[in-house]
Amino acid sequence: MAESKSAKLLVEGKEVDLPILTPTAGPEVIDIRKLYGQGDVFTYDPGFTSTASCDSTITYIDGDKGELWYRGYPIEQLAAESHYLEVCYLLLYGELPTETQLTDFENRVTRHTMVHEQMHNFFRGFRRDAHPMATMVGVVGAMSAFYHDSVDINDPLQREIASIRLIAKMPTIAAMAYKYSIGQPFVYPRNDLSYAANFLHMCFSVPAETYNVNPALARAMDRIFTLHADHEQNASTSTVRLAGSSGANPFACIAAGIACLWGPAHGGANQAALEMLRQIGSVDRIPEYIAKAKDKSDPFKLMGFGHRVYKNFDPRAKVMKESADEVLDLLGVHNNPTLQVAKELEKIALEDEYFIEKKLYPNVDFYSGIILEAMGFPTSMFTPIFALSRTVGWISQWKEMIADPQNKIGRPRQLYIGSPRRDYIDIVKR
Ligand code: CMC
Repeated sequence: MAESKSAKLLVEGKEVDLPILTPTAGPEVIDIRKLYGQGDVFTYDPGFTSTASCDSTITYIDGDKGELWYRGYPIEQLAAESHYLEVCYLLLYGELPTETQLTDFENRVTRHTMVHEQMHNFFRGFRRDAHPMATMVGVVGAMSAFYHDSVDINDPLQREIASIRLIAKMPTIAAMAYKYSIGQPFVYPRNDLSYAANFLHMCFSVPAETYNVNPALARAMDRIFTLHADHEQNASTSTVRLAGSSGANPFACIAAGIACLWGPAHGGANQAALEMLRQIGSVDRIPEYIAKAKDKSDPFKLMGFGHRVYKNFDPRAKVMKESADEVLDLLGVHNNPTLQVAKELEKIALEDEYFIEKKLYPNVDFYSGIILEAMGFPTSMFTPIFALSRTVGWISQWKEMIADPQNKIGRPRQLYIGSPRRDYIDIVKR
């Protein structure tokens, strides 16, 4: 990142010189760190629409071109040719692994898949009808109560162990949350299976009979994990970074990320999108819902549509759509009404002036639910699957921040619009 040019800002007659930073890709960035000191003003940017909160080497999105790179590699190539644990290595350490490095990494992750046995009791404290995301926020936050040897953020080795533990245990925790919610026994991980196949095993096998993981479904699951692995400074990642900037332990930070991801504008959109498609129910009702989405007085939004950064298309959605066709074909699900509604809704919306003008395209959540439903997951498991996939992104971003000597506690300023200073009035005089 070279410092080449500068921008001049005139604040009530006083000139402030601000350096312009040049990134590897994307728009140039005005460095305003000295603005308050020199100009005595703050900047105002709710929702961070024009503000870079950090520098990062991990993920890059070009919203106009519809490109997403992990460490420089396009997502389409990784989805087609790589697999999730290799992508985890790439995100965590910056380069694709050699065969030896990959085997070593896979062994390390695999050896950490079981959770502390005492955690089973912790799960049992939740109501059976708890949303699996609610359970995950609690259980992941509680990991710092179980793994005391990996909470010292100043020790690189402890940071590494915490990272491996989180990536390894998240599928186990998500599967346990699911099993608990349907009243079935927890299923222990099987380390002879791949990461994705083991997750399907923990979700769908029962002690009473043998369950053979369909390799094609494991591959589709793995691709879903890969497509969700990181997405630069989105809301949950920024939450993880902000929580981590105070020195909070990694388990607490990831729990904060899970809580943020749950919102329907973010990771919760995959559940909301499928529920919306079911609610629409048939192709003839689509115009009614398009009209609702366009009506300013109606809070309804087309879930799975729109993105803060992508203004052309979401490359993840493209791969996801192809995967949806493959999985439904594989499972012999033909004429799936939800898929029909989804395809028709996408077509109608993409031809509608409102969606064209606002550059609203289907995002990753639009098609993922259709695949997950076909695999047998209830809608309440869609966001936990997003959370387990994104854990590596959160961890990579958190590690990058902690290792950065420039790291400071995140502390935004504000534009105060409350009451001016006033004196306390005794209660009898109010
Ligand atoms: N349906 C109808 N109108 C929409 C939609 C939508 N899905 N999304 C945005 N708009 C309109 C919005 O009302 C606004 O209109 P106007 O300019 O007239 O006020 C305009 O488009 C710009 O939208 P915005 O809400 O200001 O854009 P944003 O960048 O703040 O929000 C978003 C992005 C993803 C939160 C939003 O598009 C949305 O809520 N989409 C539905 C939820 C969803 O699918 N979320 C998943 C995002 S991808 C996965 C992830 O990140 O977790």
